[in-house]
Amino acid sequence: MQHNPLTRRIAASPLAPLATFPIRLADVTRHNAQSVKKSAAWLVRSREHVHYTYDLEPHNLEHLAWFVATVTGSRVDAVRGYLAEAQEDAELRRVLGAGLARSDRRATTDPVIRYGRRIGWYAMVRALKPRFVVETGTNRGMGSVVIAAALLRNGTGRLATADIDDRSGELIIPPYDKVVDHVVSDSLEFLAGPAVRQDPIDLLFADTGHTAEHERAELAAATPLLSPGAVVLATKAYCWPELSRWAEEQGREFLFFNEQPRDHWYPGVGIGASFPALVRA
Ligand SMILES: C[S@@+](CC[C@H](N)C(=O)[O-])C[C@H]1O[C@@H](n2cnc3c(N)ncnc32)[C@H](O)[C@@H]1O
Repeated sequence: MQHNPLTRRIAASPLAPLATFPIRLADVTRHNAQSVKKSAAWLVRSREHVHYTYDLEPHNLEHLAWFVATVTGSRVDAVRGYLAEAQEDAELRRVLGAGLARSDRRATTDPVIRYGRRIGWYAMVRALKPRFVVETGTNRGMGSVVIAAALLRNGTGRLATADIDDRSGELIIPPYDKVVDHVVSDSLEFLAGPAVRQDPIDLLFADTGHTAEHERAELAAATPLLSPGAVVLATKAYCWPELSRWAEEQGREFLFFNEQPRDHWYPGVGIGASFPALVRA
């Protein structure tokens, strides 16, 4: 379009905003019509009203593979294999499906397993083979069980997870519960307590998403507990810069993966990751 002499002349004219109004109107209408169509389909299809679940667009999964490979220093083809392994894990889907079906929140739950960014958490655990993983913010336990499935596949490692809500962790059921210690606690008390003092933390998921101040306090509390090569992940990196600031203070790297949900109106969240410093020229 920039090469078209007519549009070039229009763009140079003082009347350009008026002249291009129909083009701009058509663009924004097309965009919003697609959003309305997706939203209407979701309103009919889904029962969820909080903590939306979705799959990721295929090209977004490919970005996730590169993101995990960079953060963990792994080959991207190995990471693609881990992502496929999680998606094809029939036992994991069966157990999560059974847990959701008997939940007392099943009336507002979709009976379909959609992992979103958690599939990247699975690949992180498979790539890093951590001995000790900590999660703040268990919620129902979807992430905890995905992490546990990767730990079981590794044949080593435990997860400690905490949530302030006493209804949390309902999906942490056999066989995944054998590698998970779930506690009901404020995350700062949890990080100061015995549940996370057993070993250095190799992988931390900061997922309470409470406030920026709370996340900063979680990172400060966890700092002395981390192993030298630890990776720290935070979902709310799309809302505030706490993890990237902490990474810089600690002389670490920072990257962010942006989710692109498939067939969903929700714009998605993501994964912020801080990992040991790369050697720079
Ligand atoms: C986004 S959800 C966690 C999602 C979960 N990791 C998953 O994979 O589905 C955030 C959770 O953090 C919990 N939370 C909020 N503030 C907290 C706090 N101060 N201490 C512990 N948990 C907290 C909430 O109860 C909520 O269940």
